[in-house]
Amino acid sequence: MQNREQWGSKLGFILAASGSAVGIGNIWKFPHMAGQNGGAAFTLVYLLCILVVGLTIVVAELAIGRSTQLSPVGAFEKLAPKTNWKWVGFLGVASAFVILSFYGVVGGWILKYIFVSLTGGFDSLSNDPEAAKSLFVTFTGSTWSPILFQVLFMALCVYVIVNGVKDGIESWSKIMMPIIIILLVVLAVRGLTLEGGIDGLKFLFLPRFEDLNASAIVLALGHSFFTLSLGMGTMITYGSYLNREQNLLNSALWVLALDTAIAMLAGVAIFTTVFALGADPAGGAGLIFFILPSVFPQLAYGSIWGTLFFSLLFMAALTSAISILEVVTAYFIDQKGWSRKKATIQFGVVITIVGVFCSLSLGGGVNITGYFGGTFHHFFGETFFDVMDNLSSKYMLPIGGMFTAIFILMKWTVPSFINEIGQTIIGKEKDASLVSVLCGTAAIVVGFIILNEIIAKVTGNAIIG
Ligand code: PHE
Repeated sequence: MQNREQWGSKLGFILAASGSAVGIGNIWKFPHMAGQNGGAAFTLVYLLCILVVGLTIVVAELAIGRSTQLSPVGAFEKLAPKTNWKWVGFLGVASAFVILSFYGVVGGWILKYIFVSLTGGFDSLSNDPEAAKSLFVTFTGSTWSPILFQVLFMALCVYVIVNGVKDGIESWSKIMMPIIIILLVVLAVRGLTLEGGIDGLKFLFLPRFEDLNASAIVLALGHSFFTLSLGMGTMITYGSYLNREQNLLNSALWVLALDTAIAMLAGVAIFTTVFALGADPAGGAGLIFFILPSVFPQLAYGSIWGTLFFSLLFMAALTSAISILEVVTAYFIDQKGWSRKKATIQFGVVITIVGVFCSLSLGGGVNITGYFGGTFHHFFGETFFDVMDNLSSKYMLPIGGMFTAIFILMKWTVPSFINEIGQTIIGKEKDASLVSVLCGTAAIVVGFIILNEIIAKVTGNAIIG
């Protein structure tokens, strides 16, 4: 235990934790979800979810990690010995496998798009989203090329983690996070200075409440878990490399602020550009992969803008992917006594193999859903890629987050939690009630949303949505 790795500095930790939070979720998912769900109205609900539920669970996870100096399974076992709480930790490790399998595939696509843009490959797509779509669909649906890029992305991930917490994760985050912020600011300013770009701002920040429906609220809540890397023990693991000197609340607020600011900046950069060039803001999941490649070539120095955009997206994806793999690595180090190198390489390979099936499920000549005699396909009605995505963000992360809140309330207890935070928030007596209300709200709201999803899946009719 005394040899446990530690972050090198407070700034390093904040950049690593916000590096985990800032990822494909902020730059790809958030803008297209906002685009399809009424823009600013969605943004507002999302911010509310982040502040109430997100903040509570970030602090809870960091506190659990720091107090035990262990990754999720060991942490729950230490605070609640000989109980079933350790299963919440196992759920986290399982979520890491599920998320990273498809996340690595998307990471590969991003890598590929850096090369396409750099070599002027977007030029022929100018103002032609259909052509951009067909490039994307042909690429993701082919067999080997996406796998090659996915393997490259996963290999980078393994490389960073093998180098350790301070020399790998922290030092890479310290380089990449500032670059991400600078590039996004540059792209946002570029978008804002385009004629008509301001309309993109209105779309993102002027709420039209008539556009806000119940399913958007469900989506915003689920996304707040994904974007803050909550519910699978990432923050428990990162918190376990902290010492008692670090101010938990202050660090959590930094992570929240950076994650939110970057999602907003990405929204500004994307929507100002999209509006200025008259493209479709509600382009859905294709916003990044087909709308933008058809928009960039219309700008002066388009391939440079395109390359910068996909490079920043790549860095954001990498700093998140390493935090997911670190949960698995830390489990095998803490609980099984493996070396960092062995754990990372072995499970990096296993996750890559699962990811290959995600990639192949999008076409690739081998539609694995077919191997289950159609049952698998029929049951979920989705590709394996979508199954992994939905399973994690709609069920596993919210369930993990809900149990974390319940754990604080019913097992670890609010006073022990507050003691670990180590500071007064609104006054000694009031703190316990505040924390109980926040954890209770998080558990109830998230529990309801999960139930809603399950009922919708089983009966076809949601309670709301
Ligand atoms: N927060 C990351 C993103 O927004 C994704 C992630 C989820 C990372 C869960 C770690 C754990 O892309």
